[in-house]
Amino acid sequence: MSARLPLLDDDGLELAQRTVLIRVDFNVPLKDGEVADDTRIRAALSTIQYAIKRRAKVILMSHLGRPKKPSDELSLAPAGEVLAGLLDQEVLLSDLPMGESASRLAQDLRSGEVLLLENLRFHSGEVKNSHALARELASLADVYVNDAFGAAHRAHASTEGLLPFVSGDVAFGFLMAREVKALSKVLEAPRKGLVSILGGAKVSDKIEVLRSLIPRSERVLIGGAMAYTFLAAQGVEVGLSRVEEDQLNTARELIKLAQDRKTKLCLPIDHRCAPSFDERAPVTLTDSPSIPQDLMALDIGPQTESLFAEQIKGAQVVVWNGPMGVFEWSHFAEGTYAVAQAMAACEGYTLVGGGDSARAINESGFAEEVSHISTGGGASLEFLEGKPLPGVDALFKRHAELAAARAAELAEEQSKEQSKERS
Ligand code: 3PG
Repeated sequence: MSARLPLLDDDGLELAQRTVLIRVDFNVPLKDGEVADDTRIRAALSTIQYAIKRRAKVILMSHLGRPKKPSDELSLAPAGEVLAGLLDQEVLLSDLPMGESASRLAQDLRSGEVLLLENLRFHSGEVKNSHALARELASLADVYVNDAFGAAHRAHASTEGLLPFVSGDVAFGFLMAREVKALSKVLEAPRKGLVSILGGAKVSDKIEVLRSLIPRSERVLIGGAMAYTFLAAQGVEVGLSRVEEDQLNTARELIKLAQDRKTKLCLPIDHRCAPSFDERAPVTLTDSPSIPQDLMALDIGPQTESLFAEQIKGAQVVVWNGPMGVFEWSHFAEGTYAVAQAMAACEGYTLVGGGDSARAINESGFAEEVSHISTGGGASLEFLEGKPLPGVDALFKRHAELAAARAAELAEEQSKEQSKERS
């Protein structure tokens, strides 16, 4: 994406005394009613703090999980508490995302105060992208800011639907800007020197991103359970390993795409295996790509780790999405951690996609040594697939419309002035 993003700190964008409605992605993991990982909340801080400092009345909104109706388990209260701690100030919480009490809290808000609207998905209009909810949300905002990169691939009321109803100003937040800039580096990287690493459970989840990245990359490394479908597609014996039978043809087609585009496709050359899908099962190493009939592969092996590290070393840009094995189990985490280590050692630009890969790099201890870790799982994949993101496109469009309307108003005023002077 080469167009410049209209940003919250653009010249002339006045925030003081105005209500700034910020869409954030506080869809964070919870454990026993508490936030288990606050990365996404911390990532949104720069935007929130900027608005507070500029004396805006700050209203935040987010979804959490996929509730069909209000429920205590999916309240944003724990996220609000974490935010209050990080900001060191009170964060008000509405009881519902919209309605009388939310509107009252919004109206009573004073400059520098923060109100968090309760989980947007408690309202069925959010996911349905209903005009009614979109209009209501937009009516709160003098300025609408989208900083929810993680939800930018969703065409929902708070990310897309409300934009035509915002009559004030619109802008992107700083997290959104960092994400778009980082992911654009991959799509704009020269083919020579771009290394893409894809892992995870299913080929079917990664088909589109492979279709997009294979022609753009010099080398593509494939690990995780999806690698066994690729090996099976080449006629390699994979034992009890998980194979998506209905994706064998797709895997063949992707292998051919790599051959046609002269992209080096690296599959695992050895594996860490077990007799069953069990955390405590004994680990057997293979010394070849093929897997014995009574074993299933659950991680890449040490020879593959070296092969992958060699391919990553010296790359100009590396993008990684999806673990190499069942990294949640320590016996099968080594392959994933080895890739994390190789990314950390690489001197080029290194980007880790969100979701499981972000968790894996954090657990590996190498998070500080990579260039960017995306806060978006699905959103970063869709970006890399080259798909438009509704949350980004709708804001660009509204920004252009508002700028054109203002320019037309100005031109009319000037022409009135001129005709007054003439008469
Ligand atoms: C995510 O966690 O990927 C985003 O918050 C989007 O959540 P969703 O997949 O429930 O829309």
